[in-house]
Amino acid sequence: MTRAMSRTPVEDLNRAEAAAELARLAAEIQHHDTLYYQQDDPEISDADYDALRRRNEAIEARFPDVILPESPSHRVGARPSAGFGEVAHSVPMLSLSNAFADEDVAEFLARIRRFLNLAPEAALDILAEAKIDGLSLSLRYEAGELVQAATRGDGTKGENVTANVRTVGDLPARLKGKGWPEAIEVRGEVFMRRDDFFALNARQEAAEAKAFANPRNAAAGSLRQLDAKVTASRPLHFIAYHWGELSAPIGAGMWEIRQRLADWGFQVNEPASLCHDLDEVLAFYRATMAARADLAHDIDGVVYKIDSLALQERLGFVSRAPRWAIAHKFPAEQAQTLLKAIDIQVGRTGALTPVARLEPITVGGVVVSNATLHNEDEIARKDVRVGDTVIVQRAGDVIPQVVSVVKDKRPKGSRKYKFPETCPVCQSHAVREPDEAVRRCTGGLICPAQAVERLKHFVGRNAFDIEGLGTKHIVAFWDDGLIETPADIFRLKAREAEIAAREGWGGKSAENLIASIEARRRVPLERFVYALGIRQVGQATAKLLALNYETLDAVIRSMNEAADPEGPAFGDLLNIDGIGPGVAAEIVGFFTEPHNREVLEDLQRELTVEAAKAPDDTDSPVAGKTVVFTGTLETMSRGEAKAGAESLGAKVAGSVSKKTDYVVVGADAGSKARKAADLGVTTLSEAEWLTLIGRGNLV
Ligand code: IVH
Repeated sequence: MTRAMSRTPVEDLNRAEAAAELARLAAEIQHHDTLYYQQDDPEISDADYDALRRRNEAIEARFPDVILPESPSHRVGARPSAGFGEVAHSVPMLSLSNAFADEDVAEFLARIRRFLNLAPEAALDILAEAKIDGLSLSLRYEAGELVQAATRGDGTKGENVTANVRTVGDLPARLKGKGWPEAIEVRGEVFMRRDDFFALNARQEAAEAKAFANPRNAAAGSLRQLDAKVTASRPLHFIAYHWGELSAPIGAGMWEIRQRLADWGFQVNEPASLCHDLDEVLAFYRATMAARADLAHDIDGVVYKIDSLALQERLGFVSRAPRWAIAHKFPAEQAQTLLKAIDIQVGRTGALTPVARLEPITVGGVVVSNATLHNEDEIARKDVRVGDTVIVQRAGDVIPQVVSVVKDKRPKGSRKYKFPETCPVCQSHAVREPDEAVRRCTGGLICPAQAVERLKHFVGRNAFDIEGLGTKHIVAFWDDGLIETPADIFRLKAREAEIAAREGWGGKSAENLIASIEARRRVPLERFVYALGIRQVGQATAKLLALNYETLDAVIRSMNEAADPEGPAFGDLLNIDGIGPGVAAEIVGFFTEPHNREVLEDLQRELTVEAAKAPDDTDSPVAGKTVVFTGTLETMSRGEAKAGAESLGAKVAGSVSKKTDYVVVGADAGSKARKAADLGVTTLSEAEWLTLIGRGNLV
């Protein structure tokens, strides 16, 4: 590896030199990280390694606009002292959206046909296969040899479990057959068979060790053993169903690739079938459900995937799940138990949520002792009372629910449940808005429950993602006055000694916490907006705001201007495709509330909020442009047009204004095309648009 550090003082670098050196440093630090974490074989001293990182930071501080997405400073700097190393997934490991009813599957296929502009009955090749209930794993092979195995982690970085995975019996250490690419990441599921699980639990009990709740937990616990010898003694299996990075294509469709994976030595999913329409996939679902008990391992549903990779490419992704696949879950498993009490929990927005405390019961292999009762109206509708015997259900990872009451078993003299009208935590009034099912605490800032929930949201994985600051610590820090508002988190550095002296802490853990906080002083605008916890503003809406306003200052200014619902700023907000009047009102309400403004100013003093950039390709001809699609398009649906434009960094608006850059006019366009002409906005035909974005070959 060539040395990336030049001798030029950072102050003397120009922008181009800085950019070039950052790229070299990123590669070199990555190289040393790989040697250190994955091969336990560093080739430079810690001091030299630290010098590389410091130089990287110094250059980034001087030239923040050339920081690379793959910059080492985006990873937490501290090397883990124990446990597993980290592996960045160059192709993210995604999850799947779920379907529970046949109608959800029908809608999934209909949506795909609409998106692809296909006729409602057009045949599609769909691979259907069992969905294994295990944990996903990514295996990297280079020149046919297994070189790395990583867990999914948060989807972008997982744990390096290579040593443990080498002990899993049925995965090839060397790929069999021929035709595999030089580099290939094979993805699939690690799991434990049911009989092995029972035998393992019997051994655990004999050794007075803790039994595992279900085969999935047993597989996870076994894989994540620090001692690979322990993993080797646990019977784990692997089934391949997908892939990550590839140095060369491995096929044009899922069915074909499935066969190839089998040829290379992997177990593949059974049962599986290539289906062509709704009836066929539903028949597969029912047959698989009937065969479920006869399989050696647990499955929790089936997965449908559009077979053609070319169509998958067009369909793309929504948030963290592909549009081209869905998991059709088996129905929830149910059981009866006694409801001992109803407790009220207070959430981030003050919502009071009733929780059923239950006599513990096993539902589908998992012990359940709490279940949600949703809200006041649900309790009234089901007439759930303390002392009732209730039916509880669990479906996959969702929170267990109370489905109904077994009225025959109701004890005499039981009373209707009366929902509290005050907050159980701060005693403020709890009120219901006219159209809302939820009762909310009006205590706002004085309610500790709300404050703690807001802080939890703020540090959560999709927000600031501060490692090591879990619920337990937030509650303890809040109780002792160390943090009250989000900005206080960034002032904890000054109190590191105090934290180190706390019970359960120590110098090293306090240092790690401060390091993970410091690593988050720079934050992308969309994460920042999401972290604020504005009602109805999830990740997707936060992203829309970030892309449309680009900087935090612009968001704050525009939202304050939008306080006038008749003015142009409110109109602009509503004009963002995906933001309706209700959400717009919540956003404006949040930014104009005086206390929130103080919280924002306080945070701005502590943080650098990075301006939003076009997601993919800032050099694209439409990056940053506002586009309106109108009329019927020929080669694609409106949804595909919108997703395609957004992936090139364009903003898609619902109506034409002076700020619109292009109006793409399809057949039978009406008033929007006229308005574009009146305002002098450029109009394009569909063919012209495709040419502009470099897809002119499609027409
Ligand atoms: S396909 C792009 N196929 O279920 C995502 N996933 O709930 C490709 N899973 O994250 C995933 N069996 O860990 C796929 N036959 C199967 C699966 C499967 C289990 C897991 C996988 C995924 C999770 C989503």
